[in-house]
Amino acid sequence: MSQTFGASPVILITGASSGIGRALAFRLAPSGARLALVARRAPLLAEVASEVEAAGGTALPLACDVTIREQVEGAVAETIARFGQLHVLVNNAGRGNNAYIHDTPQDQLESIFRVNVFSLWYGTAAALRHMVPLGRGQIVNVASVAGKIGFPGNAAYVAAKHATVGFTRALRAELAGTGVIATTIIAAGTLTDWAIAAEGGPMLELFDYERERGSQLAQQMNRELPPPLPLLTADSVASEIANSIGDTTPEIYTHPGLRDWVLEYETDQESAEQKLEPFWIANREGYERKASKIPS
Ligand SMILES: NC(=O)c1ccc[n+]([C@@H]2O[C@H](COP(=O)([O-])OP(=O)(O)OC[C@H]3O[C@@H](n4cnc5c(N)ncnc54)[C@H](OP(=O)(O)O)[C@@H]3O)[C@@H](O)[C@H]2O)c1
Repeated sequence: MSQTFGASPVILITGASSGIGRALAFRLAPSGARLALVARRAPLLAEVASEVEAAGGTALPLACDVTIREQVEGAVAETIARFGQLHVLVNNAGRGNNAYIHDTPQDQLESIFRVNVFSLWYGTAAALRHMVPLGRGQIVNVASVAGKIGFPGNAAYVAAKHATVGFTRALRAELAGTGVIATTIIAAGTLTDWAIAAEGGPMLELFDYERERGSQLAQQMNRELPPPLPLLTADSVASEIANSIGDTTPEIYTHPGLRDWVLEYETDQESAEQKLEPFWIANREGYERKASKIPS
């Protein structure tokens, strides 16, 4: 099923200064959409906005911290003031974290929930006050495979993305009969700054170690390997998100093979965990090796 928002829908994208949000702005630029672009780094947002305009699009850059409710409400209000309406809100801003549960600092735990979860309430509530009375609109929430499967080393992020999935399910239930739709995007490995910008330090070294050492361990333990998932460009993922606009499908998987991975985990978690276990052992090993090099 689908819903249409006319030839020039108004779309607010959070996290538009880099990665997937930036790529989504470029994807939508030639389509006639009018874009409100939200992030904290104003100079980067201004660059994205001028590139969108150069590609024939319309862009309103709005410097805003999505963890501050008044700023998010202000961004939604400015969008409606400038364009007269808001058809689609893409809650894409997010950050990962790099810490095992036993040593996740309190401020990191709170910060990860503020940016990945609380921000959803702020933007969605403000957008719905406008959309529901008009009987149309869409909220798109960018979750992750980490919102469906447990992974080690970033439990705050994993729990926050599970909350994103739960939030969107509750939202869909609350929106029944209103004409407003809600969508969860389930993305996996994407070439962006995400792993570098993670709270608690970059994660690339640990991911590399996990992949190499995990494959060795899987061979030694005689374990079946999990099906490989491609690492996609931000543009490929953005293209799936762009296609989700107007689509009433509840959950959209951006990577080939990802839905099957999640289905296997959900239908037989123990068997799926057996395949992942060597990689998780490697992850703990890599994390502890790194921690032992850092003086406390
Ligand atoms: N990359 C992956 O492998 C992957 C996989 C699955 C899901 N995802 C999800 O995809 C989304 C986009 O991530 P990405 O990969 O594109 O990472 P990214 O390149 O690091 O982009 C993150 C964006 O979020 C914005 N942001 C962070 N904190 C913010 C705040 N407090 N207020 C406003 N904006 C904020 C950043 O802008 P400023 O720093 O300028 O504020 C930036 O534009 C995230 O929700 C992420 O969890 C990513």
